[in-house]
Amino acid sequence: MGNTFLNLALLIIFHFSMPTFSMKLTTILTDQSALLALKDHVIHDPENVLTTNWSASAPVCNWFGVSCGSKHRRVTALNLTGLGLVGTLPPHLGNLSFLSLLYVRNNSFYGGLPVQLSNLRRLKYLNFGNNSFSGEIPSWLGSLTELRRLFLGQNNFKGVIPFSLGYLSKLEFLYLFGNQISGSIPSTIFNISSLQEIYLSYNMLSGSIPSVPRDLLLLEVIDFTSNNLTGHIPKDMFDHLPNLKGLYWSLNLLSGRIPASLFKCKELQMLSLSYNQMEGSLPIEIGNLSMLQYIYIGRNHFEGEIPKQIVNLTLLMAFDCSHSNFTGIIPQEIGNLKNLNWLNLAFNNIAGSIPPQVFNISTLRTISLDTNQLSGHLPSNMGLFLPNMEQLYLDFNHLAGSIPMLEGEIPEGGSFGNYSIESSKGNEALCGAARLHVPNCKTRPLRNSKAKTKLILYVALPIASTILVVALIIIILQNKRRKDKLPTQEDMIPLGTWRRFSYHELRQATDGFNDSRLLGNGSYGSVFQGTLPDGTIIAVKVFKLELETAFKSFDVECDVLRNTRHRNLVKVISSCSNDINFKALVLEFMPNGSLDKWLYSNKQYLDILQRLNIMIDVASALEYLHHGNATPVVHCDLKTNNILLDEDMVAHLSDFGIAKLLCEEASMIQTMTMATFGYMAPEYGMEGIVSTKGDVYSFGILLMEIITRKKPTDEMFAGERSLKSWVIESISSSLNQVVDPKLLSTIGREYLKVKNCALSILQVGLECCVELPNERLHMKEIVTKLKKIKVTLLRDMERVR
Ligand SMILES: *[C@@H]1O[C@H](CO)[C@@H](O)[C@H](O)[C@H]1NC(C)=O
Ligand SMILES: *[C@@H]1O[C@H](CO)[C@@H](O)[C@H](O)[C@H]1NC(C)=O
Ligand SMILES: *[C@@H]1O[C@H](CO)[C@@H](O)[C@H](O)[C@H]1NC(C)=O
Ligand SMILES: *[C@@H]1O[C@H](CO)[C@@H](O)[C@H](O)[C@H]1NC(C)=O
Ligand SMILES: *[C@@H]1O[C@H](CO)[C@@H](O)[C@H](O)[C@H]1NC(C)=O
Ligand SMILES: *[C@@H]1O[C@H](CO)[C@@H](O)[C@H](O)[C@H]1NC(C)=O
Ligand SMILES: *[C@@H]1O[C@H](CO)[C@@H](O)[C@H](O)[C@H]1NC(C)=O
Ligand SMILES: *[C@@H]1O[C@H](CO)[C@@H](O)[C@H](O)[C@H]1NC(C)=O
Ligand SMILES: *[C@@H]1O[C@H](CO)[C@@H](O)[C@H](O)[C@H]1NC(C)=O
Ligand SMILES: *[C@@H]1O[C@H](CO)[C@@H](O)[C@H](O)[C@H]1NC(C)=O
Ligand SMILES: *[C@@H]1O[C@H](CO)[C@@H](O)[C@H](O)[C@H]1NC(C)=O
Ligand SMILES: *[C@@H]1O[C@H](CO)[C@@H](O)[C@H](O)[C@H]1NC(C)=O
Repeated sequence: MGNTFLNLALLIIFHFSMPTFSMKLTTILTDQSALLALKDHVIHDPENVLTTNWSASAPVCNWFGVSCGSKHRRVTALNLTGLGLVGTLPPHLGNLSFLSLLYVRNNSFYGGLPVQLSNLRRLKYLNFGNNSFSGEIPSWLGSLTELRRLFLGQNNFKGVIPFSLGYLSKLEFLYLFGNQISGSIPSTIFNISSLQEIYLSYNMLSGSIPSVPRDLLLLEVIDFTSNNLTGHIPKDMFDHLPNLKGLYWSLNLLSGRIPASLFKCKELQMLSLSYNQMEGSLPIEIGNLSMLQYIYIGRNHFEGEIPKQIVNLTLLMAFDCSHSNFTGIIPQEIGNLKNLNWLNLAFNNIAGSIPPQVFNISTLRTISLDTNQLSGHLPSNMGLFLPNMEQLYLDFNHLAGSIPMLEGEIPEGGSFGNYSIESSKGNEALCGAARLHVPNCKTRPLRNSKAKTKLILYVALPIASTILVVALIIIILQNKRRKDKLPTQEDMIPLGTWRRFSYHELRQATDGFNDSRLLGNGSYGSVFQGTLPDGTIIAVKVFKLELETAFKSFDVECDVLRNTRHRNLVKVISSCSNDINFKALVLEFMPNGSLDKWLYSNKQYLDILQRLNIMIDVASALEYLHHGNATPVVHCDLKTNNILLDEDMVAHLSDFGIAKLLCEEASMIQTMTMATFGYMAPEYGMEGIVSTKGDVYSFGILLMEIITRKKPTDEMFAGERSLKSWVIESISSSLNQVVDPKLLSTIGREYLKVKNCALSILQVGLECCVELPNERLHMKEIVTKLKKIKVTLLRDMERVR
């Protein structure tokens, strides 16, 4: 109270004597009174953050959750995420005219959004998610034209999505999921070219899906799950979505067929259409969407055969086409799906036998084949190859034979009341109560007990002479996922799913490791080109075993590559480590060789678009390594030699010999391994600190190198001068001196367009290479920035033509 009075007194005095200063003071006080009004409107503050911290005696810029501009000292960001606050938003917040970020996520604010917030013209990031806001989604949101992110999910908003949101021409993320929004999806939404993700799931939206009128090159996710959307999917829906990764449309009332335009979405990873009323077949072109990881199309009225082409989707982790009218057989080649966790074909009309290859997919956790027309015998040794199996449903088929080798504890009671030794024929590994005449579990430790896994089997066996209807559920009580663990010696050994080659096969394939087949040498050993008897061309990386580091290199590389799969990483076909004296990796052959060769050879030339595509490829690979796995992988040795080009000039990152796996707690580790001088981040060079931020630094150097065509190790970079400082120096004066003259050899507008693009890329490069690791960009941001540069470049090219 006393302080407010003092401030007021000061304000009055200055108001008359020092007009400029008083203006500034007035505005700071405006911000202060707006925040104090917010404090007043909070009726419950369980952690006493506002109560104790937001004191009028301290400058607002020091208050918890408040950030100010460094010059004008006005409030630019207010972040009150997750403080358990209960209250309403006062109209005074509309006076925070410099605000660009307003986050109150994960609290219990209620009531409507005051119209005064429409004055916040600088607002870029608005997150009101997971509160209890109610009322309509206000149409004035459409006037906040700087908005990039609008998060209103998990509230009680009702009414329709205002048409005006289509005016938010810079919007990237729109999250309105988990409200009670009704009406149809406004057609203007898909007119926002900057859109990246749209989540409208778990609402009450009706009407049909609007079509997409223009290319949305950044749009990766469309989530309409659980609404009441009806009608056919527009035929041309996917003509403008080349980068769509996630399509989540299940739990609606969509009808009609899958439109052929879907197969233009080459990046698609998730196709979710289950629980709709769709019909027709699953087209064979599904096999062309090679990035697919999840296909959920169950609970529809699809018919026809399951296309054999799905066996080519080697990244597939889940396939569910249950509860439809699919016919045909399960193709033998299903064994190719080495990443499959979940296979659900239940409640269809699938016939034939179950190919034994199904039981060779060691990643499988759930198999549901129940209620089909399957016949034949189960393979006798299937249990051996399903180490991760949790549930297996085979009931209501025409399967014959006895239950194959299974092991674990048989529970008592329930459907096991009638279980007898007869039922467990061929199941010598089963154990249970003495009454069941099977071995006692306590005295017979489970084979898998080392992996701390306990098995329990539920087996119901209505036996009819030779025909056995089997319902079988295996529940692994303790999940033995080991994703969070650092690799131990034991984890390194099984290189499970890869095809194995003997030393002799590899020797033959490479003409006895002939020098004429040598592709390159490194500190770890040599790489040879080889040809398998079936004509496949491979690259064989042979490790020098005299060196202890090469030995370790092999193990690390195996471990990284075994756990990672991405189109921009070099694929491992096999490892050969049977012989103690010979360790080799069999890799996909990259016919176009290394980026280094393309960049520095006088015969070859990469234009700006090819170079940009390569940068995006490498950035995507790094984004995946850093953020796509439970255990982040740091590559540690990014350079042009380690980037290989396939026949389509798609770049693949290779050479994981000194890569590091970071466990979840440690975001960085210290190491003594030497990376390549010139690309190394300063903290790595000086203190051996490894973190994903070090890769970001090297990536920045790489960007500069690709644009300037100058190696960071070039002799012109001696003493204080480095590639980075040279770029900084020249970028501010005359750019032409740094950009590769080969790129700028064009004339007129073409020249300008290339120059602009090169300049933008160099700027991203510099942002990657700032000294302080924490201030460097995140790989995801880098990918987005590069993609945007590409969009601009393509647009400019269009104009030039
Ligand atoms: C308020 O919180 C900020 C940020 O946590 C802290 O720096 C400041 O010292 C706190 N002030 C008071 C008065 O508690
Ligand atoms: C907002 O605050 C939360 C919790 O303190 C923090 O996790 C989050 O990163 C902050 N977000 C921004 C954009 O500052
Ligand atoms: C701020 O906003 C409130 C309510 O919208 C208004 O009453 C007040 O006069 C405004 N100005 C200042 C300087 O607080
Ligand atoms: C909100 O809370 C959930 C659950 O506690 C948490 O997972 C999420 O990260 C929180 N969101 C933010 C922005 O802090
Ligand atoms: C929502 O926020 C509350 C805290 O207010 C948190 O406990 C809860 O987990 C959050 N829910 C989600 C889904 O983020
Ligand atoms: C779509 O956006 C363009 C400009 O970005 C605008 O001219 C056009 O009117 C918009 N169309 C609709 C239907 O909103
Ligand atoms: C869909 O519409 C039906 C009938 O109009 C209604 O009962 C149901 O709750 C709606 N579902 C959703 C998710 O809005
Ligand atoms: C799909 O792949 C097949 C070969 O597997 C090819 O013949 C066909 O042209 C491809 N279709 C499209 C639409 O890309
Ligand atoms: C399968 O086809 C039959 C006969 O045409 C039909 O009665 C049934 O509803 C269909 N089932 C599904 C799930 O579409
Ligand atoms: C799988 O892909 C390979 C190579 O693209 C092709 O030759 C083969 O025909 C495809 N298999 C199926 C079943 O589509
Ligand atoms: C399954 O894998 C085992 C061991 O790798 C192999 O011996 C067997 O031939 C495979 N079976 C089929 C049907 O591929
Ligand atoms: C056990 O057998 C008896 C007699 O055959 C039968 O009535 C009962 O339903 C069976 N119980 C189970 C759980 O199968």
